[in-house]
Amino acid sequence: MNENWGDGTRAVHAGLPAPHPGAPLLPGPVFAAPYHLAGYPPGGPDGTADAYARNSNPTLGRYEEALGQLERGDAVVFASGMAAVSAVLLDTLVPGDVLVLPSDGYYVTRVLAREVLGARGVEVREVPTTGPYSAELLAGARLVLLETPANPGLDVCDLAAVIPAARAAGALVGVDNTTATPLGQRPLDFGADFSISSDTKAMTGHGDLLLGHVAVTDPALLERLRAWRTRTGGLPGPFETWLAHRSLGTVDLRLTRQAANALALADLLADRREVTDLRYPGRPGDPAHATASRQMRRFGGVLSFTLPSAEAVDRFVAASALMVSATSFGGLHTTVDRRAQWGGDVVPAGFVRLSAGCEDTVDLLADLATALDALGPTPR
Ligand SMILES: Cc1ncc(COP(=O)(O)O)c(C=O)c1O
Repeated sequence: MNENWGDGTRAVHAGLPAPHPGAPLLPGPVFAAPYHLAGYPPGGPDGTADAYARNSNPTLGRYEEALGQLERGDAVVFASGMAAVSAVLLDTLVPGDVLVLPSDGYYVTRVLAREVLGARGVEVREVPTTGPYSAELLAGARLVLLETPANPGLDVCDLAAVIPAARAAGALVGVDNTTATPLGQRPLDFGADFSISSDTKAMTGHGDLLLGHVAVTDPALLERLRAWRTRTGGLPGPFETWLAHRSLGTVDLRLTRQAANALALADLLADRREVTDLRYPGRPGDPAHATASRQMRRFGGVLSFTLPSAEAVDRFVAASALMVSATSFGGLHTTVDRRAQWGGDVVPAGFVRLSAGCEDTVDLLADLATALDALGPTPR
């Protein structure tokens, strides 16, 4: 793929096969578990033929090619974001190893680290996304997992500072890049060993599938991840994989609209007295804006803020015609998630993670104002 092409061009053309008369531009999903061996050993006469879908298959191969082109590395696709995260954690860490991970990132990753790895003798050290990543914290670490912007608090980790420090301490570094996507930020360019993503979110963006991937540049890590997936079997079926590839063509358009909507909504929220602790890294004045501007190529559609109570969030959602209550983020539809209801994040009862969708900005702004007005007067 031409490195000079813009994001939109790259996304539309990522992973497409060479033109062939009579063939579709993006071939459909291939539904098969075994493939003909036709009397040859697995791999066929030249060693590249698909033999069994858990090892490799054409639908997966094309989507992985596409992701590799966007990440500027090699991608391995998994059945969900957590299958991708757990592949990196479980394949890398053995008893006695040290894992450093964010105390404010996606809470299921923390639960996995504490309850599965911790129980198996891995030392788990938690640190806020903004650090400090002290020499003491990094000492003896085998894997440092970062997440930026962190879900749901949206703090930003300074990749250019932290990745070299962690590598100098002898650790492998993984970045959960779900909220940013590879169009927003490329962890491999900063020297990360693993760029990890839940493609359930903005990468596919229609809220209709679960998917994840890990991208790497080191061929040895690539082989390990592929072997891990073949042995544990956590890969998506061809229909989800193909849907994801089809959706990828619009990722640049979707992210552009989502980011414009998020900034407009954040500007409105900033002026409202019902709202506290507004966070959007793309907004000048946000505590993460300077770091985010250095390392992010675009800011995505997720923002967060706090309303006075859980009950206020319920009234806010009930008064809205466009913002639906749903967990997950990065989709076409604007969604609101009161995170405290899940019990995993240390956030106030009225904390809201809002994912701006692809609706018209003017409609969303009017809807947001209506929803906030429904909360009634709030004393300063
Ligand atoms: C930052 C982050 N990483 C990983 C995941 C897990 O992804 P999935 O739900 O696709 O397993 C999520 C899901 O919300 C997430 O927000």
